[in-house]
Amino acid sequence: MKLAVLSGGGDCPGINAVLRAVVRAARNLFDWPVIGVRDGFEGLLDPPRLVELGPVELVNALTRGGTILGASNRINPFAFASDGVHREDRSAEVIRNIKDAGIDVLIVIGGDGTLLIASKLADLGVKVVGIPKTIDNDLEATGVTFGFDTAVATATDAIDKLQTTAESHHRVMYLQVMGRHAGWIAASSGIAGGAHVILIPEIPFEPRFVARKIERRAEAGEGYTIVVVAEGAVERGGEAVYVEEKPRYGAPRLGGVAERVAAKVFELCPREYRVTVLGHLQRGGSPNPHDRILCTRFGVAAVRAVAEERFGTMVALVKHRLELVTLKEAVGREKLVPPDGELVETARAVGVSFGDKEAR
Ligand code: F6P
Repeated sequence: MKLAVLSGGGDCPGINAVLRAVVRAARNLFDWPVIGVRDGFEGLLDPPRLVELGPVELVNALTRGGTILGASNRINPFAFASDGVHREDRSAEVIRNIKDAGIDVLIVIGGDGTLLIASKLADLGVKVVGIPKTIDNDLEATGVTFGFDTAVATATDAIDKLQTTAESHHRVMYLQVMGRHAGWIAASSGIAGGAHVILIPEIPFEPRFVARKIERRAEAGEGYTIVVVAEGAVERGGEAVYVEEKPRYGAPRLGGVAERVAAKVFELCPREYRVTVLGHLQRGGSPNPHDRILCTRFGVAAVRAVAEERFGTMVALVKHRLELVTLKEAVGREKLVPPDGELVETARAVGVSFGDKEAR
């Protein structure tokens, strides 16, 4: 059996830890060789770019951020657009290259977009097992994706630091974090960091309620406020804010919402403010212990799924146990923060405002 492993979409802390687990389990349990595909699906187009993955390549991989294989979030072989406009289906080329390289099974690490490609390849007869990766944690089929916990830790660390400088200067501090449609990073880090306002895509906000929270805190003698804003947060009746709505390649790029909210709130409540955009710091760096363990479990489980010939599946964490779900069940089902769910209600109970109504 010859395995290949590919990571599609944006990078995320823990990809190398998954590669290490796959390579070690394949060798230790079954004596199977593993090769790596460079730069996501780009590495399976002509000419294919494949690399041996062995102990030497994976030295220090458990803790190393990024991905030693390289990342690309532009390539969809089913709708390949070399000029960014005209699309062609190059899936046959990918399948031919998989066959020619003698690859029996492809392990695909990715978020929704990448796993959708994997699912389509499975429909065309490629033996595939998926592993859920994204800092956004927005896949319904798994309790958690790897990379999310590390991103939350990074965002929480930023909030902790903003708390001290906000308090010293009696300022309103806005922190913009990632989260396109799903506000998991904002909600989780906001709670962990003791933010006073959290704005997420799932709960449209009104600047007046943010201003009101700031005023109430000031009236109570707290001259500073921390506002965490997911990049995809939307004002009630408004739209998401983009830095580039129609890029030549890849998905529309969100950005600027925190600055926009801050300016609008300032009109209503003229307190000095600063905006921090955390950006790709959330995707960088070493995975934390939680993610290192999860990545190891996911990688080993994927190899075991291959041994059991459970193709067309994705490893998932369901109620603390690792299970296999079909790729069909896994893709196209976005996990959003339930607006009336326990996480939001918990935050509200400790005084967090989501900018949608009057809060204490
Ligand atoms: O999917 C993860 C994510 O971090 C999103 O939250 C963000 O919008 C996007 O990737 C940014 O991707 P890039 O800037 O690498 O294209």
